[in-house]
Amino acid sequence: MGKIILTGDRPTGKLHLGHYVGSLRRRVQLQEEGDYDRMFVFMADVQALTDNADNPEKIRQNIVQVALDYLSAGLDPAKCTLFIQSQIPELAELTTYLMNLITVSRVQRNPTVKTEIKMRNFEANIPLGFFCYPVSQAADIALFKATTVPAGEDQEPMLEVTRELVRRFNQTYAEVLVEPNIMLPENATARRLPGTDGKEKMSKSLGNCIYLSDSADEVWQKVRSMYTDPDHLRVDDPGKVEGNAVFTYLDAFSSDDDFAEFWPEYKNLDELKDHYTRGGLGDMKCKKFLNQVINKMLEPIRVRRHEYEQDIPEIFNILRRGTDAAREVAAQTMSEVREAMRINYFDDAELIRQQAELFKSPH
Ligand code: TRP
Repeated sequence: MGKIILTGDRPTGKLHLGHYVGSLRRRVQLQEEGDYDRMFVFMADVQALTDNADNPEKIRQNIVQVALDYLSAGLDPAKCTLFIQSQIPELAELTTYLMNLITVSRVQRNPTVKTEIKMRNFEANIPLGFFCYPVSQAADIALFKATTVPAGEDQEPMLEVTRELVRRFNQTYAEVLVEPNIMLPENATARRLPGTDGKEKMSKSLGNCIYLSDSADEVWQKVRSMYTDPDHLRVDDPGKVEGNAVFTYLDAFSSDDDFAEFWPEYKNLDELKDHYTRGGLGDMKCKKFLNQVINKMLEPIRVRRHEYEQDIPEIFNILRRGTDAAREVAAQTMSEVREAMRINYFDDAELIRQQAELFKSPH
């Protein structure tokens, strides 16, 4: 059996620091620790199309962006199978069969789907494909017999649906599929990084993102104008660190080493927070430090990205090889699925014999 990791992203835009702390950094760690027998990371373009059906060009353009983000963040095609969802037809096939094992009302109760329907103003007119995406996502996970799915809290309802479907399938037909577990981000900042404007979430539609692909200049422009404590008007005023995005980012990204390297007046973030809270420490100084911390983290990513950008055809080759490897696994599971469902007619010698017997003339 083995321990198998699978996770993916909708390729609707380039990835930002929220993705990085929330999942990408962890994936690279998991890849390097090597505790898992196999790791799949894929671009969920089929799922992205469920609410972008009229804009396939957006998805198409972002395939390379997201692939560059993956590779430059450190995902290594030698250790991790990278693939594109739409190129695995077995996913559509398994989705079709899983749809028979779940009710409409069960999908309707999915809180993530509910929120998304509201957000997209789909209430009156829900595209059927969009409505069914939790089943398609269950197929993504089950087809590869994933045991572990690193994802955010919002994906928990999808994992519940997946586990239910796996149980239903195994009970109804035969023990073929595997129940997965979610692996949540370790801490609160990793779960939800606020935007540079201090709003709850870093998100492309809010225009408050720092992208992995931003230049050092772009990062500084964004950090310089970040939201801090609106009541911290003069340097001498006491400042608040709660809800202050600069400090939330420092929580997420800075280490004691960064202090030693860039700001040795303080031993660590606690000392810095103390001073800020007492008063007498200006926002600009903190922002300069944060900028150094972020750029130190992004610099190796930028260097790798620059290298990969020199050979874009090779990116497609990497994705093609990953997709071919994923298809082998997909074909194996689907053959087990068809056998369990007894729809493997041409390979079923017993069925052929039995039917022949049945139609033999009785003399
Ligand atoms: N729903 C996920 C997201 O919006 C993307 C996704 C699709 C996924 N299939 C998956 C994540 C399977 C984990 C496992 O980000």
